[in-house]
Amino acid sequence: MAKLIELTREGRVALIRLNRPEALNALNSALAEELTEAAQALDTDRGVGAIVITGSERAFAAGADISEMAGKTAEEMVEADFFSTWDRFAALRTPKIAAVNGYALGGGCELMMMCDFAIAGEGAKFGQPEVKLGVIAGMGGTQRMTKLIGRSLSMDLHLTGRLMDAAEALRAGLVARVVPDDQVLPEAMAAAAQVAGYSRPATRLAREAVMRAEELSLGEGVAWERRLFHRLFGTSDQKEGMRAFLEKRKPDFHRD
Ligand code: HXC
Repeated sequence: MAKLIELTREGRVALIRLNRPEALNALNSALAEELTEAAQALDTDRGVGAIVITGSERAFAAGADISEMAGKTAEEMVEADFFSTWDRFAALRTPKIAAVNGYALGGGCELMMMCDFAIAGEGAKFGQPEVKLGVIAGMGGTQRMTKLIGRSLSMDLHLTGRLMDAAEALRAGLVARVVPDDQVLPEAMAAAAQVAGYSRPATRLAREAVMRAEELSLGEGVAWERRLFHRLFGTSDQKEGMRAFLEKRKPDFHRD
Protein backbone atom coordinates (compact mmCIF):
# COMPACT_ATOMS: atom_id res chain seq x y z
CA MET A 1 0.00 0.00 0.00
CA ALA A 2 1.29 3.48 -0.84
CA LYS A 3 2.45 5.43 2.16
CA LEU A 4 0.02 8.10 3.28
CA ILE A 5 2.81 10.57 3.95
CA GLU A 6 6.24 11.14 2.40
CA LEU A 7 9.05 12.21 4.68
CA THR A 8 12.26 13.80 3.39
CA ARG A 9 15.06 15.69 5.10
CA GLU A 10 17.00 18.74 3.96
CA GLY A 11 19.66 19.50 6.52
CA ARG A 12 17.90 20.29 9.81
CA VAL A 13 14.49 20.64 8.14
CA ALA A 14 12.06 17.73 7.81
CA LEU A 15 9.45 17.91 5.07
CA ILE A 16 6.27 15.88 5.40
CA ARG A 17 4.05 15.67 2.35
CA LEU A 18 0.50 14.36 2.70
CA ASN A 19 0.10 11.68 0.07
CA ARG A 20 -3.54 10.94 -0.72
CA PRO A 21 -3.80 13.17 -3.80
CA GLU A 22 -6.66 11.12 -5.28
CA ALA A 23 -8.82 12.09 -2.25
CA LEU A 24 -7.46 15.66 -2.04
CA ASN A 25 -5.48 14.51 1.00
CA ALA A 26 -8.61 13.80 3.04
CA LEU A 27 -7.38 13.05 6.54
CA ASN A 28 -8.40 9.53 7.54
CA SER A 29 -7.38 7.87 10.81
CA ALA A 30 -4.51 5.97 9.21
CA LEU A 31 -3.05 9.18 7.79
CA ALA A 32 -3.45 10.95 11.13
CA GLU A 33 -1.59 8.12 12.90
CA GLU A 34 1.17 7.95 10.29
CA LEU A 35 1.69 11.70 10.29
CA THR A 36 1.64 11.98 14.09
CA GLU A 37 4.01 9.05 14.61
CA ALA A 38 6.48 10.44 12.08
CA ALA A 39 6.28 13.91 13.57
CA GLN A 40 6.68 12.56 17.13
CA ALA A 41 9.89 10.79 16.10
CA LEU A 42 11.18 14.03 14.52
CA ASP A 43 10.27 15.94 17.68
CA THR A 44 12.81 13.98 19.73
CA ASP A 45 15.52 14.13 17.04
CA ARG A 46 18.08 16.78 17.97
CA GLY A 47 19.08 17.00 14.32
CA VAL A 48 15.67 18.45 13.40
CA GLY A 49 15.00 22.12 14.00
CA ALA A 50 11.76 22.64 12.06
CA ILE A 51 9.09 20.63 10.24
CA VAL A 52 7.28 21.69 7.06
CA ILE A 53 3.90 20.08 6.35
CA THR A 54 2.57 20.30 2.82
CA GLY A 55 0.06 18.68 0.49
CA SER A 56 -0.37 18.68 -3.28
CA GLU A 57 -0.89 21.48 -5.80
CA ARG A 58 -4.67 20.98 -5.65
CA ALA A 59 -5.10 20.49 -1.94
CA PHE A 60 -3.24 20.90 1.32
CA ALA A 61 -6.11 18.77 2.66
CA ALA A 62 -9.83 18.94 1.84
CA GLY A 63 -10.87 17.89 5.32
CA ALA A 64 -11.32 14.89 7.52
CA ASP A 65 -12.25 11.81 5.48
CA ILE A 66 -16.01 12.00 5.01
CA SER A 67 -16.29 8.42 3.73
CA GLU A 68 -14.61 7.11 6.90
CA MET A 69 -16.91 9.11 9.21
CA ALA A 70 -20.23 8.90 7.37
CA GLY A 71 -21.59 5.67 8.91
CA LYS A 72 -20.24 6.03 12.41
CA THR A 73 -22.47 6.12 15.49
CA ALA A 74 -22.02 8.53 18.38
CA GLU A 75 -20.98 5.57 20.57
CA GLU A 76 -18.22 4.64 18.12
CA MET A 77 -16.97 8.22 17.95
CA VAL A 78 -16.86 8.46 21.76
CA GLU A 79 -15.28 5.02 22.19
CA ALA A 80 -12.51 5.79 19.70
CA ASP A 81 -12.18 9.36 21.02
CA PHE A 82 -12.22 10.16 17.31
CA PHE A 83 -9.70 12.86 16.29
CA SER A 84 -7.78 12.64 19.60
CA THR A 85 -4.67 11.63 17.62
CA TRP A 86 -4.52 15.26 16.54
CA ASP A 87 -4.00 16.42 20.13
CA ARG A 88 -0.70 14.53 20.11
CA PHE A 89 0.27 16.22 16.86
CA ALA A 90 -0.64 19.69 18.15
CA ALA A 91 1.42 19.12 21.31
CA LEU A 92 4.72 18.63 19.47
CA ARG A 93 7.39 21.14 20.48
CA THR A 94 9.27 21.47 17.19
CA PRO A 95 8.27 24.54 15.13
CA LYS A 96 5.93 23.43 12.34
CA ILE A 97 5.22 25.44 9.20
CA ALA A 98 2.28 24.66 6.91
CA ALA A 99 2.99 25.14 3.19
CA VAL A 100 -0.48 25.45 1.66
CA ASN A 101 -1.55 25.17 -1.96
CA GLY A 102 -5.15 24.64 -3.04
CA TYR A 103 -7.84 23.64 -0.58
CA ALA A 104 -7.35 23.78 3.18
CA LEU A 105 -10.88 22.91 4.26
CA GLY A 106 -12.39 21.53 7.45
CA GLY A 107 -9.80 19.29 9.05
CA GLY A 108 -7.28 20.54 6.49
CA CYS A 109 -7.69 24.10 7.72
CA GLU A 110 -7.57 22.79 11.29
CA LEU A 111 -4.32 20.92 10.61
CA MET A 112 -2.90 24.12 9.13
CA MET A 113 -3.88 25.98 12.31
CA MET A 114 -2.17 23.32 14.46
CA CYS A 115 1.05 24.29 12.71
CA ASP A 116 2.83 27.33 14.14
CA PHE A 117 2.35 29.44 11.05
CA ALA A 118 1.27 29.02 7.45
CA ILE A 119 2.64 30.14 4.11
CA ALA A 120 -0.01 29.97 1.42
CA GLY A 121 -0.21 30.26 -2.34
CA GLU A 122 -2.27 32.96 -4.03
CA GLY A 123 -4.75 30.33 -5.20
CA ALA A 124 -5.29 28.71 -1.80
CA LYS A 125 -8.80 28.43 -0.35
CA PHE A 126 -9.71 28.08 3.31
CA GLY A 127 -12.88 27.24 5.15
CA GLN A 128 -14.77 25.28 7.78
CA PRO A 129 -17.61 23.87 5.66
CA GLU A 130 -18.64 21.13 8.14
CA VAL A 131 -22.01 22.82 8.64
CA LYS A 132 -22.89 21.73 5.10
CA LEU A 133 -22.43 18.12 6.23
CA GLY A 134 -24.64 18.46 9.30
CA VAL A 135 -21.74 18.63 11.76
CA ILE A 136 -19.24 21.10 13.17
CA ALA A 137 -15.45 21.27 13.20
CA GLY A 138 -13.96 18.54 15.38
CA MET A 139 -10.19 19.02 15.23
CA GLY A 140 -10.07 22.33 17.10
CA GLY A 141 -11.32 24.67 14.36
CA THR A 142 -13.91 26.55 16.41
CA GLN A 143 -11.26 27.27 19.04
CA ARG A 144 -8.05 27.88 17.12
CA MET A 145 -9.69 29.89 14.35
CA THR A 146 -11.49 32.12 16.84
CA LYS A 147 -8.24 32.82 18.65
CA LEU A 148 -6.44 33.49 15.37
CA ILE A 149 -8.91 35.69 13.51
CA GLY A 150 -11.55 36.72 16.09
CA ARG A 151 -15.12 35.71 16.81
CA SER A 152 -16.91 37.61 14.07
CA LEU A 153 -15.02 36.20 11.10
CA SER A 154 -14.73 32.76 12.69
CA MET A 155 -18.51 32.68 13.17
CA ASP A 156 -18.99 33.75 9.54
CA LEU A 157 -16.87 30.83 8.30
CA HIS A 158 -18.30 28.22 10.67
CA LEU A 159 -21.94 29.23 10.22
CA THR A 160 -22.03 29.91 6.47
CA GLY A 161 -19.40 27.37 5.40
CA ARG A 162 -18.12 29.88 2.85
CA LEU A 163 -14.54 29.69 1.59
CA MET A 164 -11.97 32.41 2.11
CA ASP A 165 -9.34 33.23 -0.50
CA ALA A 166 -5.67 33.77 0.24
CA ALA A 167 -5.84 37.58 0.25
CA GLU A 168 -8.61 37.55 2.85
CA ALA A 169 -6.80 34.89 4.89
CA LEU A 170 -3.69 37.07 4.96
CA ARG A 171 -5.69 40.15 6.00
CA ALA A 172 -7.41 38.14 8.70
CA GLY A 173 -4.15 36.74 10.07
CA LEU A 174 -5.12 33.14 9.32
CA VAL A 175 -1.88 32.76 7.35
CA ALA A 176 1.42 34.57 7.86
CA ARG A 177 2.52 34.99 4.23
CA VAL A 178 1.01 34.66 0.75
CA VAL A 179 3.31 34.02 -2.21
CA PRO A 180 2.85 32.90 -5.84
CA ASP A 181 1.66 29.27 -5.88
CA ASP A 182 4.94 27.88 -7.18
CA GLN A 183 6.88 29.69 -4.46
CA VAL A 184 5.02 28.19 -1.50
CA LEU A 185 7.29 25.26 -0.81
CA PRO A 186 10.60 27.09 -1.45
CA GLU A 187 9.45 29.93 0.80
CA ALA A 188 8.37 27.53 3.55
CA MET A 189 11.59 25.51 3.30
CA ALA A 190 13.67 28.70 3.48
CA ALA A 191 11.71 29.91 6.52
CA ALA A 192 12.12 26.50 8.15
CA ALA A 193 15.87 26.49 7.45
CA GLN A 194 16.11 29.92 9.05
CA VAL A 195 14.27 28.70 12.18
CA ALA A 196 16.30 25.48 12.28
CA GLY A 197 19.55 27.44 12.06
CA TYR A 198 18.94 29.14 15.41
CA SER A 199 19.36 27.72 18.89
CA ARG A 200 17.05 24.70 19.24
CA PRO A 201 16.06 25.50 22.84
CA ALA A 202 15.42 29.14 21.92
CA THR A 203 13.07 28.33 19.04
CA ARG A 204 11.24 25.64 21.01
CA LEU A 205 10.76 27.91 24.00
CA ALA A 206 9.74 30.87 21.79
CA ARG A 207 7.10 28.62 20.30
CA GLU A 208 5.95 27.42 23.70
CA ALA A 209 5.71 30.96 25.06
CA VAL A 210 3.66 32.20 22.09
CA MET A 211 1.33 29.19 22.33
CA ARG A 212 0.82 29.90 26.04
CA ALA A 213 -0.67 33.27 25.09
CA GLU A 214 -3.74 31.34 23.92
CA GLU A 215 -4.21 29.71 27.31
CA LEU A 216 -3.09 32.16 30.00
CA SER A 217 -3.97 35.61 31.30
CA LEU A 218 -1.53 38.41 30.40
CA GLY A 219 0.10 38.38 33.84
CA GLU A 220 0.48 34.59 33.90
CA GLY A 221 1.76 34.57 30.34
CA VAL A 222 4.37 37.25 31.02
CA ALA A 223 5.54 35.35 34.11
CA TRP A 224 5.71 32.12 32.07
CA GLU A 225 7.72 33.87 29.35
CA ARG A 226 10.13 35.33 31.91
CA ARG A 227 10.88 31.90 33.38
CA LEU A 228 11.59 30.48 29.93
CA PHE A 229 13.76 33.52 29.16
CA HIS A 230 15.77 32.97 32.36
CA ARG A 231 16.10 29.26 31.54
CA LEU A 232 17.82 30.06 28.24
CA PHE A 233 20.74 31.61 30.16
CA GLY A 234 21.66 28.04 31.05
CA THR A 235 22.37 27.20 27.40
CA SER A 236 25.70 27.52 25.60
CA ASP A 237 23.74 28.96 22.65
CA GLN A 238 22.82 32.05 24.69
CA LYS A 239 26.49 32.58 25.55
CA GLU A 240 27.51 32.03 21.92
CA GLY A 241 24.72 34.20 20.47
CA MET A 242 25.49 37.19 22.66
CA ARG A 243 29.28 36.77 22.45
CA ALA A 244 29.07 36.58 18.64
CA PHE A 245 27.05 39.82 18.54
CA LEU A 246 29.61 41.61 20.68
CA GLU A 247 32.47 40.22 18.59
CA LYS A 248 30.64 41.24 15.38
CA ARG A 249 30.60 37.73 13.90
CA LYS A 250 27.99 35.13 13.00
CA PRO A 251 27.02 32.84 15.89
CA ASP A 252 27.90 29.17 15.72
CA PHE A 253 25.02 27.61 17.61
CA HIS A 254 25.39 24.10 19.01
CA ARG A 255 21.61 23.98 19.37
CA ASP A 256 21.77 22.29 22.72
C1 HXC B 1 -13.28 12.23 1.63
C2 HXC B 1 -12.90 13.61 -0.17
C3 HXC B 1 -12.93 14.76 0.66
C4 HXC B 1 -13.13 14.55 2.07
C5 HXC B 1 -12.58 15.41 -1.36
N1 HXC B 1 -12.70 14.07 -1.41
N2 HXC B 1 -12.74 15.85 -0.12
N3 HXC B 1 -13.07 12.37 0.31
N4 HXC B 1 -13.29 13.27 2.49
N5 HXC B 1 -13.13 15.56 2.93
C6 HXC B 1 -12.60 13.22 -2.59
C7 HXC B 1 -13.86 13.28 -3.45
O1 HXC B 1 -14.85 12.43 -2.92
C8 HXC B 1 -13.34 12.83 -4.79
O2 HXC B 1 -13.21 11.41 -4.77
C9 HXC B 1 -11.93 13.40 -4.82
O3 HXC B 1 -11.58 13.66 -3.45
C10 HXC B 1 -11.86 14.70 -5.59
O4 HXC B 1 -12.82 15.59 -5.07
P1 HXC B 1 -13.93 16.31 -5.99
O5 HXC B 1 -15.05 16.71 -5.10
O6 HXC B 1 -14.25 15.47 -7.17
O7 HXC B 1 -13.11 17.58 -6.48
P2 HXC B 1 -13.67 19.05 -6.83
O8 HXC B 1 -14.94 18.95 -7.63
O9 HXC B 1 -12.50 19.80 -7.39
O10 HXC B 1 -14.09 19.70 -5.42
C11 HXC B 1 -13.09 19.96 -4.47
C12 HXC B 1 -13.76 20.27 -3.10
C13 HXC B 1 -14.72 19.12 -2.71
C14 HXC B 1 -14.53 21.61 -3.18
C15 HXC B 1 -12.63 20.43 -2.05
O11 HXC B 1 -14.01 17.89 -2.82
C16 HXC B 1 -15.27 19.21 -1.34
O12 HXC B 1 -16.16 20.00 -1.04
N6 HXC B 1 -14.77 18.36 -0.43
C17 HXC B 1 -15.26 18.27 0.95
C18 HXC B 1 -14.84 19.46 1.74
C19 HXC B 1 -15.37 19.36 3.16
O13 HXC B 1 -16.57 19.34 3.39
N7 HXC B 1 -14.46 19.25 4.10
C20 HXC B 1 -14.81 19.13 5.51
C21 HXC B 1 -14.87 17.68 5.87
S1 HXC B 1 -15.39 17.42 7.49
P3 HXC B 1 -13.69 10.52 -6.04
O14 HXC B 1 -13.46 9.12 -5.57
O15 HXC B 1 -15.11 10.87 -6.30
O16 HXC B 1 -12.75 10.96 -7.14
C22 HXC B 1 -14.05 17.81 8.45
C23 HXC B 1 -14.16 17.86 9.91
C24 HXC B 1 -15.21 17.00 10.36
O17 HXC B 1 -13.03 18.06 7.98
C25 HXC B 1 -15.46 17.18 11.80
C26 HXC B 1 -16.72 16.52 12.14
C27 HXC B 1 -16.60 15.37 13.09
